[in-house]
Amino acid sequence: MAEEIPWERLFEEALRVRQRAHVPYSKFPVGAAVLYADGSVVAGCNVENATYGLTVCAERNAFAAGVAQGREKPVAVAVVVDTPEPCPPCGMCRQVMAEFAGPDIPVRSRTLNGQEARYSLSELLPHAFTRSFL
Ligand code: THU
Repeated sequence: MAEEIPWERLFEEALRVRQRAHVPYSKFPVGAAVLYADGSVVAGCNVENATYGLTVCAERNAFAAGVAQGREKPVAVAVVVDTPEPCPPCGMCRQVMAEFAGPDIPVRSRTLNGQEARYSLSELLPHAFTRSFL
């Protein structure tokens, strides 16, 4: 499956949507792109708020947009940030990914200079709380 994932396309989308990030406070734009089993890609950027606490990360916005567009079965996630080292998704975003994706979904994060980190969701969020406990 890993061979079939169009990572370059995903990173292009993440980079593109990152330019739309609403980040007047942190000035830390993030772009995320999610590939679905039907081949569609849904992207999201971080959207901050003057209250600070209402900020929503790029990854969560991408997954929320996927829900709104009726997408099912996410199969890969790409994130783009401008940091010296690739930046992993925050804990809240990991939990949201676990709502929609299985533990083996690959998550990759790239910097603007092309450094890349590769994870699986289960590495990022072991022992996830999911609907199986409800
Ligand atoms: N941010 C993301 O969009 N994704 C992450 O995984 C980490 C943090 C955003 C939230 C905020 O707008 C800015 O980055 C600084 O924390």
